Amino acid sequence: MNDVPIIAANGVNMPALGIGTFELDEPTVEDILPRALELGYRHIDTAQIYRNEGAVGRAMEHSGIAREDLFITTKVWVDQYEPAALIRSVQGSLERLRTDYVDLLLLHWPVFGGRGMNPTLDALMRARRDGLTRHIGISNFTIDQTEQAVAFCGDGQLATNQVEYHVYLGQERLRRVLARHNLILTAYMPLAKARTVNDPVLWEIGEQYGKTSAQVALRWLVEQDRVAAIPATSNPHHAAANLDIFDFSLSENDQQRLAALEKKRRICKPEKLSPEWDD
Ligand SMILES: NC(=O)c1ccc[n+]([C@@H]2O[C@H](COP(=O)([O-])OP(=O)(O)OC[C@H]3O[C@@H](n4cnc5c(N)ncnc54)[C@H](OP(=O)(O)O)[C@@H]3O)[C@@H](O)[C@H]2O)c1
Repeated sequence: MNDVPIIAANGVNMPALGIGTFELDEPTVEDILPRALELGYRHIDTAQIYRNEGAVGRAMEHSGIAREDLFITTKVWVDQYEPAALIRSVQGSLERLRTDYVDLLLLHWPVFGGRGMNPTLDALMRARRDGLTRHIGISNFTIDQTEQAVAFCGDGQLATNQVEYHVYLGQERLRRVLARHNLILTAYMPLAKARTVNDPVLWEIGEQYGKTSAQVALRWLVEQDRVAAIPATSNPHHAAANLDIFDFSLSENDQQRLAALEKKRRICKPEKLSPEWDD
């Protein structure tokens, strides 16, 4: 298995592949994370709302891996966006994660009250100044919201916009904006919630390289400039397979076949949280 490449952008060094933990309860996280860390994962994605930061913290601690070799992302939930609450909530996250800092702290969804996003972004920057996080970023922000956040925080300050991205959802316009500001696009639901697994086109492509459809779906993402992927799994075989994508490259013809798949299938669109999506 090859090493996971590191993406460098706006001062952050993020492993291009991480493991997601959405919808994994604490016992499941405590089962899969030690195996994932043993396999070589170093990038872990959690969030306050996943209610599993405690299990992530215990797995990190028990792994014996040096803290500086891990890359931990957590996300502030939308009911903690008032500045003092944000700082307190991050301190709570750190206690649960059993660490002094996270590597990346994100605003989970762009849901702001009448005062808009600036007070919350200001608190996010304060969390970084106070050493609670090394880097900051946003999640589920549209193009306009990304531009606003970059304008407020300053160029070079935000590390990533974490958004849904997979072979069935185009993010070309957003990707161009992120590239212009040197932000990483962190692709969530990179397997389109396992819908990629039974796709005949992906299977056919994978057969040429001795890879599965899921591996093709992930490879397509990480071959793109400044795109990271964070597939979730509770299955150690899948965890190993998802990491085993750095020893082959998709041919131009295969990239074109993947580019030609329908690109309008957004899966994650919670009514109360979703912004007006760009496409
Ligand atoms: N910022 C946000 O708002 C947001 C929203 C959603 C997700 N996320 C993050 O992104 C991560 C990934 O998204 P997701 O978990 O929703 O979807 P996903 O990674 O696209 O899909 C996960 C599903 O794929 C299956 N799977 C994983 N690897 C596989 C493989 N090699 N072969 C076959 N099936 C495989 C898993 O089942 P098994 O357990 O059986 O492997 C699971 O059912 C989340 O865990 C979370 O950390 C962020």
